[in-house]
Amino acid sequence: MQLFADTADIEEIREAASWKIIDGVTTNPTLIMRAGLSLTDAIQKIVSLVDGPISAEVAEGSTEAMVEEAKEYAAMHPNIVIKIPMTAEGVKAIKALDEIDIRTNCTLVFTVSQALMAAKAGADFISPFLGRLDDRTERDDAGYALLRDMRRMLDTYGFNSKIIAASIRNRKHVEQAICAGAHIATVPFRVLKDMFIHPLTDDGLKRFAKDAKKG
Ligand code: G3P
Repeated sequence: MQLFADTADIEEIREAASWKIIDGVTTNPTLIMRAGLSLTDAIQKIVSLVDGPISAEVAEGSTEAMVEEAKEYAAMHPNIVIKIPMTAEGVKAIKALDEIDIRTNCTLVFTVSQALMAAKAGADFISPFLGRLDDRTERDDAGYALLRDMRRMLDTYGFNSKIIAASIRNRKHVEQAICAGAHIATVPFRVLKDMFIHPLTDDGLKRFAKDAKKG
Protein backbone atom coordinates (compact mmCIF):
# COMPACT_ATOMS: atom_id res chain seq x y z
CA MET A 1 0.00 0.00 0.00
CA GLN A 2 1.22 3.50 -0.76
CA LEU A 3 1.31 6.25 1.86
CA PHE A 4 0.49 9.86 0.96
CA ALA A 5 0.82 12.82 3.32
CA ASP A 6 -2.50 14.62 3.79
CA THR A 7 -1.27 18.15 4.46
CA ALA A 8 -0.21 21.39 2.78
CA ASP A 9 2.13 22.33 5.65
CA ILE A 10 5.51 22.57 3.94
CA GLU A 11 7.57 21.76 7.04
CA GLU A 12 5.42 18.68 7.78
CA ILE A 13 5.89 17.52 4.18
CA ARG A 14 9.62 18.19 4.34
CA GLU A 15 10.01 16.05 7.46
CA ALA A 16 7.77 13.26 6.19
CA ALA A 17 9.62 13.23 2.85
CA SER A 18 12.90 12.74 4.76
CA TRP A 19 11.64 9.31 5.89
CA LYS A 20 11.73 8.16 2.20
CA ILE A 21 8.43 6.26 2.55
CA ILE A 22 5.96 8.93 1.38
CA ASP A 23 4.61 8.31 -2.14
CA GLY A 24 2.48 11.43 -2.70
CA VAL A 25 0.59 14.33 -1.12
CA THR A 26 -3.06 15.34 -1.02
CA THR A 27 -4.37 18.82 -0.31
CA ASN A 28 -7.83 20.38 -0.16
CA PRO A 29 -9.09 23.94 0.38
CA THR A 30 -9.11 23.52 4.18
CA LEU A 31 -5.52 22.24 4.27
CA ILE A 32 -4.38 25.04 1.95
CA MET A 33 -6.09 27.62 4.17
CA ARG A 34 -4.41 26.14 7.27
CA ALA A 35 -1.01 26.32 5.54
CA GLY A 36 -1.48 30.05 4.91
CA LEU A 37 -0.38 29.77 1.28
CA SER A 38 -2.09 30.21 -2.08
CA LEU A 39 -2.84 26.89 -3.77
CA THR A 40 -0.33 27.56 -6.54
CA ASP A 41 2.42 28.57 -4.08
CA ALA A 42 1.78 25.46 -1.97
CA ILE A 43 1.80 23.15 -4.98
CA GLN A 44 5.02 24.66 -6.36
CA LYS A 45 6.75 23.97 -3.03
CA ILE A 46 5.25 20.48 -2.59
CA VAL A 47 6.25 19.16 -6.04
CA SER A 48 9.87 19.95 -5.17
CA LEU A 49 9.67 17.88 -1.96
CA VAL A 50 7.79 14.72 -2.98
CA ASP A 51 8.18 12.91 -6.31
CA GLY A 52 4.69 11.43 -6.63
CA PRO A 53 1.03 12.34 -7.25
CA ILE A 54 0.20 15.74 -5.72
CA SER A 55 -3.54 16.46 -5.46
CA ALA A 56 -4.84 20.00 -5.97
CA GLU A 57 -8.60 20.57 -5.60
CA VAL A 58 -10.69 22.73 -7.90
CA ALA A 59 -13.61 24.80 -6.67
CA GLU A 60 -16.92 22.96 -7.04
CA GLY A 61 -18.97 24.40 -9.91
CA SER A 62 -19.90 23.78 -13.53
CA THR A 63 -18.11 21.13 -15.54
CA GLU A 64 -16.62 23.79 -17.79
CA ALA A 65 -15.32 25.88 -14.88
CA MET A 66 -13.77 22.87 -13.17
CA VAL A 67 -12.12 21.69 -16.39
CA GLU A 68 -10.61 25.13 -17.05
CA GLU A 69 -9.27 25.41 -13.49
CA ALA A 70 -7.94 21.87 -13.71
CA LYS A 71 -5.99 22.65 -16.89
CA GLU A 72 -4.33 25.59 -15.10
CA TYR A 73 -3.10 23.44 -12.20
CA ALA A 74 -2.16 20.44 -14.36
CA ALA A 75 0.09 22.68 -16.46
CA MET A 76 2.19 23.47 -13.38
CA HIS A 77 3.82 20.02 -13.08
CA PRO A 78 3.33 16.48 -14.48
CA ASN A 79 2.82 15.07 -10.97
CA ILE A 80 -0.25 17.20 -10.29
CA VAL A 81 -3.55 15.32 -9.94
CA ILE A 82 -6.80 17.27 -9.95
CA LYS A 83 -9.23 16.71 -7.09
CA ILE A 84 -12.82 16.86 -8.35
CA PRO A 85 -15.85 16.59 -6.02
CA MET A 86 -18.40 13.77 -6.40
CA THR A 87 -21.21 15.63 -8.18
CA ALA A 88 -22.85 15.13 -11.59
CA GLU A 89 -20.89 18.13 -12.89
CA GLY A 90 -17.79 16.68 -11.29
CA VAL A 91 -18.25 13.29 -12.97
CA LYS A 92 -18.58 15.03 -16.35
CA ALA A 93 -15.41 17.00 -15.59
CA ILE A 94 -13.55 13.80 -14.68
CA LYS A 95 -14.60 12.27 -18.00
CA ALA A 96 -13.51 15.36 -19.95
CA LEU A 97 -10.14 15.49 -18.15
CA ASP A 98 -9.60 11.75 -18.69
CA GLU A 99 -10.00 12.34 -22.43
CA ILE A 100 -7.14 14.87 -22.38
CA ASP A 101 -4.92 12.77 -20.10
CA ILE A 102 -5.21 14.96 -17.01
CA ARG A 103 -5.24 12.73 -13.95
CA THR A 104 -8.07 13.12 -11.44
CA ASN A 105 -8.86 12.21 -7.84
CA CYS A 106 -12.62 12.07 -7.15
CA THR A 107 -13.11 13.36 -3.61
CA LEU A 108 -15.86 13.44 -0.96
CA VAL A 109 -16.90 9.86 -1.73
CA PHE A 110 -19.01 8.00 0.87
CA THR A 111 -20.68 5.11 -0.96
CA VAL A 112 -19.67 2.36 -3.36
CA SER A 113 -22.28 3.73 -5.78
CA GLN A 114 -20.48 7.08 -5.87
CA ALA A 115 -17.21 5.20 -6.35
CA LEU A 116 -18.70 3.30 -9.32
CA MET A 117 -19.68 6.53 -11.03
CA ALA A 118 -16.21 8.00 -10.49
CA ALA A 119 -14.56 4.84 -11.83
CA LYS A 120 -16.84 4.78 -14.90
CA ALA A 121 -15.87 8.41 -15.61
CA GLY A 122 -12.21 7.39 -15.57
CA ALA A 123 -11.05 8.80 -12.23
CA ASP A 124 -7.45 7.75 -11.60
CA PHE A 125 -8.00 7.98 -7.83
CA ILE A 126 -11.14 7.81 -5.69
CA SER A 127 -11.10 9.20 -2.13
CA PRO A 128 -13.56 7.77 0.43
CA PHE A 129 -13.63 9.86 3.63
CA LEU A 130 -13.38 7.42 6.54
CA GLY A 131 -13.34 9.92 9.41
CA ARG A 132 -16.36 11.86 8.22
CA LEU A 133 -18.24 8.60 7.67
CA ASP A 134 -17.42 7.55 11.25
CA ASP A 135 -18.64 10.96 12.44
CA ARG A 136 -22.11 10.09 11.07
CA THR A 137 -22.52 6.37 11.83
CA GLU A 138 -22.69 4.27 15.00
CA ARG A 139 -20.77 1.36 13.45
CA ASP A 140 -17.00 1.57 14.00
CA ASP A 141 -16.26 -0.46 10.87
CA ALA A 142 -18.26 1.63 8.37
CA GLY A 143 -15.06 2.89 6.79
CA TYR A 144 -13.59 -0.59 6.53
CA ALA A 145 -16.78 -1.92 4.91
CA LEU A 146 -16.79 0.90 2.37
CA LEU A 147 -13.15 0.35 1.46
CA ARG A 148 -13.67 -3.40 1.15
CA ASP A 149 -16.75 -2.94 -1.08
CA MET A 150 -14.96 -0.36 -3.23
CA ARG A 151 -11.94 -2.63 -3.77
CA ARG A 152 -14.22 -5.55 -4.61
CA MET A 153 -16.17 -3.38 -7.09
CA LEU A 154 -13.03 -2.10 -8.83
CA ASP A 155 -11.51 -5.59 -9.09
CA THR A 156 -14.79 -7.28 -10.14
CA TYR A 157 -15.46 -4.89 -13.00
CA GLY A 158 -11.84 -4.32 -14.03
CA PHE A 159 -11.56 -0.61 -13.31
CA ASN A 160 -8.06 0.89 -13.03
CA SER A 161 -9.01 3.55 -10.45
CA LYS A 162 -7.01 3.46 -7.22
CA ILE A 163 -8.56 3.93 -3.77
CA ILE A 164 -7.06 6.68 -1.61
CA ALA A 165 -8.38 6.14 1.93
CA ALA A 166 -8.86 9.71 3.18
CA SER A 167 -10.15 11.64 6.17
CA ILE A 168 -7.83 9.48 8.28
CA ARG A 169 -8.13 10.52 11.93
CA ASN A 170 -6.12 7.80 13.68
CA ARG A 171 -3.98 4.66 13.24
CA LYS A 172 -7.13 2.49 13.28
CA HIS A 173 -8.21 4.12 10.02
CA VAL A 174 -4.81 3.37 8.47
CA GLU A 175 -5.09 -0.26 9.55
CA GLN A 176 -8.62 -0.46 8.14
CA ALA A 177 -7.19 0.76 4.82
CA ILE A 178 -4.40 -1.84 4.95
CA CYS A 179 -6.76 -4.73 5.77
CA ALA A 180 -9.47 -3.71 3.30
CA GLY A 181 -7.02 -3.51 0.38
CA ALA A 182 -6.97 0.24 -0.25
CA HIS A 183 -4.23 1.07 -2.75
CA ILE A 184 -3.26 4.22 -0.85
CA ALA A 185 -3.92 5.89 2.50
CA THR A 186 -3.48 9.66 2.72
CA VAL A 187 -2.51 10.38 6.29
CA PRO A 188 -2.21 13.59 8.35
CA PHE A 189 1.29 14.27 9.70
CA ARG A 190 0.13 13.75 13.31
CA VAL A 191 -1.08 10.22 12.44
CA LEU A 192 2.00 9.44 10.33
CA LYS A 193 4.20 10.16 13.36
CA ASP A 194 1.90 8.07 15.56
CA MET A 195 2.33 5.09 13.22
CA PHE A 196 5.95 4.72 14.38
CA ILE A 197 4.97 4.43 18.04
CA HIS A 198 3.96 1.57 20.35
CA PRO A 199 4.54 1.35 24.15
CA LEU A 200 6.10 -2.11 23.81
CA THR A 201 8.53 -0.76 21.22
CA ASP A 202 9.56 1.95 23.68
CA ASP A 203 9.87 -0.58 26.51
CA GLY A 204 11.97 -2.86 24.36
CA LEU A 205 14.28 -0.04 23.31
CA LYS A 206 14.85 0.96 26.95
CA ARG A 207 15.60 -2.64 27.95
CA PHE A 208 17.98 -3.21 25.03
CA ALA A 209 19.80 0.05 25.77
CA LYS A 210 20.12 -0.91 29.44
CA ASP A 211 21.35 -4.42 28.64
CA ALA A 212 23.75 -3.17 25.97
CA LYS A 213 25.51 -1.13 28.64
CA LYS A 214 26.02 -4.28 30.71
CA GLY A 215 27.61 -6.14 27.82
O1 G3P B 1 -8.12 14.23 2.36
C1 G3P B 1 -9.32 14.66 2.96
C2 G3P B 1 -9.05 15.00 4.39
O2 G3P B 1 -8.10 16.04 4.48
C3 G3P B 1 -10.32 15.40 5.14
O3 G3P B 1 -10.05 15.13 6.47
O4 G3P B 1 -10.44 15.22 8.93
O5 G3P B 1 -11.30 17.09 7.41
O6 G3P B 1 -12.38 14.82 7.37
P1 G3P B 1 -11.09 15.60 7.61
